[in-house]
Amino acid sequence: MGVLRHMLPLLLGLASALAAEVPAFRDPALPEERRLDDLLGRLSLEEKVALCHADTYWTNPGVPRLGIPGLVVSDGPHGVHEERLSHGWASAGRSDDFVTDLPAGVALAATWNPALAESYGKVLGAEARVRGKDVILGPGINIARTPLFGRNFEFTGEDPYLASRIAVGYIRGVQTQGVAACIKHFAANNQEIGARDGISVEVSRRALHELYLPGFRAAVREAGVLTAMGAYNSVNGTFACENGYLLDELLRGAWGFDGLVMSDWGGSHTTQGSALHGIDLEMNGRPKRDYDRMNLGKPFQKEIEEGRIPLSMLDAKVRRILRVTMRLGLLNPEKVRPAGSLNTPEHRAAALRVAEQSIVLLRNDASLLPLDLASVASVAVIGGNALKKHSPPGGGLPGGGSSAVKPLHETTPLEALLTKLAPLATVTYAQGYGPDAAQATALRERAVTAAKAADLVLYVGGLDHTLETETKDRPDMKLPYGQSQLIPALLAANPRTVVVLVGGSAMDLNPWVDSAKTLVLAWYNGSEAGTALAETLLGENNPSGRLPITLGRRLEDYAPHAKSDRRNYPGVGGKVYYDEGVFVGYRHFDAAGLAPLFCFGHGLSYTSFAYENLKVSESPDKGVFSVECTVRNTGARDGLETVQLYVAPKAPRTPRPPRELKRFSKVLLKSGESAVVSFELAKADFAIFDEDADSWRVEGGPFIVEIGASSRDLRLSKEVSVDPAAKLTHGTGAD
Ligand code: BGC
Repeated sequence: MGVLRHMLPLLLGLASALAAEVPAFRDPALPEERRLDDLLGRLSLEEKVALCHADTYWTNPGVPRLGIPGLVVSDGPHGVHEERLSHGWASAGRSDDFVTDLPAGVALAATWNPALAESYGKVLGAEARVRGKDVILGPGINIARTPLFGRNFEFTGEDPYLASRIAVGYIRGVQTQGVAACIKHFAANNQEIGARDGISVEVSRRALHELYLPGFRAAVREAGVLTAMGAYNSVNGTFACENGYLLDELLRGAWGFDGLVMSDWGGSHTTQGSALHGIDLEMNGRPKRDYDRMNLGKPFQKEIEEGRIPLSMLDAKVRRILRVTMRLGLLNPEKVRPAGSLNTPEHRAAALRVAEQSIVLLRNDASLLPLDLASVASVAVIGGNALKKHSPPGGGLPGGGSSAVKPLHETTPLEALLTKLAPLATVTYAQGYGPDAAQATALRERAVTAAKAADLVLYVGGLDHTLETETKDRPDMKLPYGQSQLIPALLAANPRTVVVLVGGSAMDLNPWVDSAKTLVLAWYNGSEAGTALAETLLGENNPSGRLPITLGRRLEDYAPHAKSDRRNYPGVGGKVYYDEGVFVGYRHFDAAGLAPLFCFGHGLSYTSFAYENLKVSESPDKGVFSVECTVRNTGARDGLETVQLYVAPKAPRTPRPPRELKRFSKVLLKSGESAVVSFELAKADFAIFDEDADSWRVEGGPFIVEIGASSRDLRLSKEVSVDPAAKLTHGTGAD
């Protein structure tokens, strides 16, 4: 008792001291901005400046004096990157950092399934948590302007609406796990050649708003993305990381983004530009640990101290950085963040589902698929991509650059096919091609012999990450390693040949493509790539992938290459001119009357679907159109159909794409079953960006609402009239 009496004042004093010392910034009950006011008031100039630049390649420092940890970032975008050295790009050489390798971004887009994108994001977020990461550097959503762009595989294809839906799902998924997503690369980062030196993309505001920005806007407006990454390139003469129009006027201004913008690694070029109009957090490409000398390091501090940059600019950046820190729970050490999980069966299953739904059955003219094993005694599996692991352990460039993943496992097509086919048929394998040109003839001969001897050939070829990778573009669309000679030889040797192509972009399939009766596009599908492919070939998975890119016959069919003018690609004098404006991808093919090999949105199924009974009604007071139709599975198998809605202006006064994707819905229908699919269209979905008025505008006049199975397989249509005077409603279209 005596001791207690003695201790009591001490304890009470301690308790009240502790109570008094819980600073406002740590109090989750207080409004966010009040907490940030408090925190900012406690920081010295040096501490604030330190927050605005990296202190290793992968972190910023936080505020050590106050026990506030820095942010730990990691690539992204389709798996948590292996651990790297703190002060460099190289692998840390660990053996405890194997993860689930999710299908690459273009494959995710090919699912046309935002719900799957969300489950994909959840896997990424959960794995990031276990690995101690706060920010995942994805999704990447730069538009596939040219098929040569080495990073197309990482991104979400050529259409801004599809990219938006996928991005929103992905970000929501990541951020449910207590991890920030990072939308990249903002903006118009559509080629590797020259982009890293800040090549200036000369692009109209209309093309920016209609094509290159909608995905970013949706990420902010609809998914509340917490961070964004400025691109390496310049846009209309100003570095993307220092671009007031992009970052201040649009991102933070019109769209209301209140998270942080980081630079791409080394993408900040000047202190003034980065400080006044640019990024909040400068990330690094410096070798010598002299992080203080970065643009937003000591030079920034000096500019402030000498009055050339107002302190308010620094405070605004620090507030945005700490807002993200706070929203992730890092100001509250007592807060239990989601623990995450790694390489679970659920993660594998999610990766498999995405891979299954991404695979595109391009052509099935002889109904060779799904394979009827009753009539097949021997199968020749041919092609280097049948046994290639596209993300081999060790990561680095083989996986395509910064997006390389070190998967716990990656099932190859050959492995999965052997598992499934070997009990039922004799399976042989021939490589057919390889990087060593001296071996080409021998490899080809052996493959042709194997093809002749087998009842059926499963060819798995296409591209790999020696060609499709960060830091370079492909020189042309050609298939590598003599495949353009090998494939026709195989088709001649055995007409029962299934051609499966792996890759992330369009390939030149001449001269043999018209004689190939069975064609499949299988992307870079990650840990479960082989399983998903084998299931699809065997009919255990009914393919439902749809093209997120147009597959053209020739490079010149793509707008940037139409005139073979270096101004349009790869650029001259440090500038690349997007003269095609909004006519990119199918928008160009349709406007120019070009027949693609396979159009945007195309993809077959093992069943068939009928479309009927389109109804469109307008609700004038709400300014929306309600659209519905019935889709029926008319075949013998259950299947997923992606119902696509395009809006086509009938007699536009301003040149515009003949049609644009505005809605889609993926529905599962059992054999014989039908469903009513409904959509709502807002006035904004008919709008174009008016450069003179610098805002969106609806041109009055008739439009056709078209519904179908691809951009060129439109089954139903109805004319609607849109009142130009009607108020533009905000929505997924315009603002
Ligand atoms: C890439 C980014 C990547 C970053 C960090 C850059 O070179 O462009 O996409 O997130 O490196 O690895």
